[in-house]
Amino acid sequence: MTSTQASTQDRRTFAIIAHPDAGKTTLTEKLLLFGGAIHTAGEVKARGQNRRARSDWMKIEQQRGISVTSSVMTFETQGLTFNLLDTPGHEDFSEDTYRTLTAVDSAVMVLDAARGIEAQTLKLFEVCRLRNVPIITFINKVDRDGRDGFSLLDEVADQLQLDVCPMSWPIGMGADFEAIYDLDRNRLTQPIRGEDAIVTQCTGTDDPQLDALLTPAGVKLFREEVELAQGGYSTWDAERYRAGDLTPVYFGSALREFGISELIDALARFAPGPRVQPATPQPVSPEDPNVTGFIFKVQANMNPMHRDRIAFMRLCSGRFRRGMKLNQVGTGKSIAVHSPILFFAHEREVVDDAFPGDIIGIPNHGTLRVGDTLTDGPPVSITGLPNFAPEILRRVVLKDPTKTKQLRKALDDMAEEGVTQVFHPNIGSQWIVGVVGQLQLDVLISRLEAEYRVDAALEPSPWDTARWIASDDPAIMKAFADTHRSTTATDRDGAAVFMAKSGWDLNYAVERNPGIRFTATKERE
Ligand code: G4P
Repeated sequence: MTSTQASTQDRRTFAIIAHPDAGKTTLTEKLLLFGGAIHTAGEVKARGQNRRARSDWMKIEQQRGISVTSSVMTFETQGLTFNLLDTPGHEDFSEDTYRTLTAVDSAVMVLDAARGIEAQTLKLFEVCRLRNVPIITFINKVDRDGRDGFSLLDEVADQLQLDVCPMSWPIGMGADFEAIYDLDRNRLTQPIRGEDAIVTQCTGTDDPQLDALLTPAGVKLFREEVELAQGGYSTWDAERYRAGDLTPVYFGSALREFGISELIDALARFAPGPRVQPATPQPVSPEDPNVTGFIFKVQANMNPMHRDRIAFMRLCSGRFRRGMKLNQVGTGKSIAVHSPILFFAHEREVVDDAFPGDIIGIPNHGTLRVGDTLTDGPPVSITGLPNFAPEILRRVVLKDPTKTKQLRKALDDMAEEGVTQVFHPNIGSQWIVGVVGQLQLDVLISRLEAEYRVDAALEPSPWDTARWIASDDPAIMKAFADTHRSTTATDRDGAAVFMAKSGWDLNYAVERNPGIRFTATKERE
């Protein structure tokens, strides 16, 4: 298993980004199946259902039929370890997804061949672009009638301002679908219902074998299209892909298992291993012998019987060994990691060691927070884990006033996990919670009840949006705080926040206060 591997570049840590329904779950399952981590299709869903049954607050997931929590799945093939970080696809719950994307080295963007780029694809892509995360595009559902390949490639190029390079091409779509041709390696893959696909090695797109294997209409159209596609789009350039400037595009069907091996091969051949992580005082290289990692997600109460939390740490450098003591940068606390957990498709295992690119779960009782850096070397802080300005602000109203302490604890816990943000207004004693999507509010109320036995309600607050505020000049900051006492607050880390009643209100404050920076994301430093 992982313990025998020591190279820093044999990990492929990636996420799948997709709009809901594009086929992310199906593709995840097929990657695990082809990667040998599961043996029958359906296990991923089954596992999800077991896990959901375990915890009360996850009832929301069942009611809404969506997955709120993200997890990590590992499979090993071609001498490499693939760590697939699952991200919730629901539009309402994107903050967690964004943070998960800070822990990957590359991404697979799944598009529905009939729909192309959708709202959530665009948002997620933008997060990847912020960090120059290289993207492989998988155009899914070619077994159904979809848009033609050119229109899809043009859409990716135009909407994402990204060069595209078709790496495979479908022969027909929907009812006319015949095969997929791997343009890079000149292989034709033909599906046979109920059996393994037939793969034929060709000499090129003019190989006469194709005339025998495909329908005359199919092969004619294929040759015309490929000529146009190869002339009209970028040629393959691994460096430009790794810089995030070009995306290789594969066509396939997750459901019918076409194009999955090609996608795994592409990840193995092209996707980067662990990248250098932005950090202060200097970036962290995977070759660095000190162990350094950062927490990108905390999940509480995976088992409601014990108030356990799992902090997900992305290892950035060094060789991690079980039982190691790591320092929590910032607090200076030393944390002994006795039972780190590695995640597999359908189970968890305690690991003895881990390498850069790996994700390990660290059970703890609330010490570890999203954004924390842990290291056994000199203090260093991984940067770039964003908090997003909330788009919904609510006042928390406690029904039983004797539960103030519990409420504070619950809100602090959830702020620490990154479920919601909590603001303490400079005037008044009520807490304001801020979220980026409605679903987070449902999660909050349901968890308050189930885990903390706190009966609380959320009422509209006078504010519509919030921004973190900062200034290089403390006098300007103080003057602003003095004149805006009723509209400023502090977040859980004590950072100053301005709350606005409307977009207009916010713009007005921004225009009137050029010495103040208003930011929609706050990076943990
Ligand atoms: P998501 O995680 O991105 O939300 O998508 P998911 O995989 O759940 O897929 C959404 C729907 O699209 C599912 O159908 C799934 O079976 C279907 N699908 C995924 N890949 C393909 C494909 O390559 N071809 C075709 N034709 N369909 C595909 P559903 O009816 O909503 O769910 P289910 O009852 O099949 O589970």
